[in-house]
Amino acid sequence: MSIQRISTVAGIRITNLDSSRILFLSLTPLLLLFIALIAYRRGIIDPFLAFSPPKSLQPFSSTELLPPPDTADQPPRIAICLVGGARRFELTGPSILKNLLKQYPNADLFLNSPLDENAYKFFLLNDAPRIAGVRIFEPEWIEETESRIRVLSSRNSPNGIQGLLQYFNLVEGCLSLISAYESRHHCTYDWIIRTRVDGFWTGPLDPSTFQPATYVVPPGSRFGGLNDRFGSGDRLASIAALSRLSLIPRLDASGYHNLNSESAFKAQLNISNLQVREIPLPFCVLSDRRYDFPPGRHGVPVASMGSVGPLNGAKCRPCTVACGGECAAKIVSGLIDERSWTEWREWREEGLELCNATGDWEEGWEEVFDRVAGEEAAAKRRRMVAVERNACEEEFEKMRQRTESWDAPPGEEICRLGLRKK
Ligand SMILES: *[C@@H]1O[C@H](CO)[C@@H](O)[C@H](O)[C@H]1NC(C)=O
Ligand SMILES: *[C@@H]1O[C@H](CO)[C@@H](O)[C@H](O)[C@H]1NC(C)=O
Repeated sequence: MSIQRISTVAGIRITNLDSSRILFLSLTPLLLLFIALIAYRRGIIDPFLAFSPPKSLQPFSSTELLPPPDTADQPPRIAICLVGGARRFELTGPSILKNLLKQYPNADLFLNSPLDENAYKFFLLNDAPRIAGVRIFEPEWIEETESRIRVLSSRNSPNGIQGLLQYFNLVEGCLSLISAYESRHHCTYDWIIRTRVDGFWTGPLDPSTFQPATYVVPPGSRFGGLNDRFGSGDRLASIAALSRLSLIPRLDASGYHNLNSESAFKAQLNISNLQVREIPLPFCVLSDRRYDFPPGRHGVPVASMGSVGPLNGAKCRPCTVACGGECAAKIVSGLIDERSWTEWREWREEGLELCNATGDWEEGWEEVFDRVAGEEAAAKRRRMVAVERNACEEEFEKMRQRTESWDAPPGEEICRLGLRKK
């Protein structure tokens, strides 16, 4: 045998076993090459990524759009986390279902919400294509540590520093829900979208919102920082963006003090070295709060939910328009946050309409809502007004059965809390 001969020439005695091992060793690289070739042709590996570090260790660099090259065969995994109280969820829920959850039917829904007398309205989420985790919890006092008091400011926060901490906790709760799910399923999400249950969406969430290595927020409503009413990013970016409570000590150490929610958000993305991109988004935050009208320089304009164009999470309500066109443009250009609105001049001048929100929602707001939101949403609204306790309980039971991670009081309790009289 030639191997034996060569070996003999080299002066080494080789047994039969040894020669077959050498044969195996010399074939191994060929075999690996062959496997790699097949994998490459089937799109399992990308030749340029095959020997790079795992995704989670790669530095941020690329700016290409969806889908990432190594998941061409598999749709990207998306988690959508809804946070907040259900106050007007009968009005916002159907718009979220239509424009987010049904737009991305493979996305997993997570809900993190405080228990209150409106939580029963969440049974509407039973229409979602997929529900992965639901947490409805009784809020507890959050300790106001020295660093939290130093970093945050209670100015313009309706419930002071405690209100901010509750909100931060709610947002960060998305992360714990999602990562618990990931570790149970040995998977990771490519994208995490965080949005509010009180968002009223007038159009679908555009795929351009998915930007690698960047955190995407809407423009406007910056209040000295960044709009924190919606955010989307890949997994690493989202971990940095949603860690609102746990990053406070680092903000403190970096010398950031006296921040409101928006400026704390901006600072937190900065110390995490995250790029931010503002992308217009077609939703507004439906609010019952009253605001001065016309708003002063530091005031909050309340848009009519029927305004045309992306409202980017501005406050809104159903109203008879108090001021549109030139009038709205004039008010908005007087705001300290004006620049963020004027970027959308094209739609603003004809599209933005403002409400006089000095009082409660006007009498007959239901008609305004039905007209703006359409027949399907109007039907959902009427159903919620008429819903009875046993129908509510049935829906919650169905939802519980299809939700893998259910961390909420029994449906009977949630429904009883909201529908005492029925
Ligand atoms: C963080 O803030 C500093 C100072 O304003 C700025 O120079 C830097 O570009 C920011 N970093 C990021 C990632 O935005
Ligand atoms: C706004 O509405 C209130 C009543 O709710 C009214 O008294 C006030 O005059 C209105 N303001 C403007 C500028 O129209």
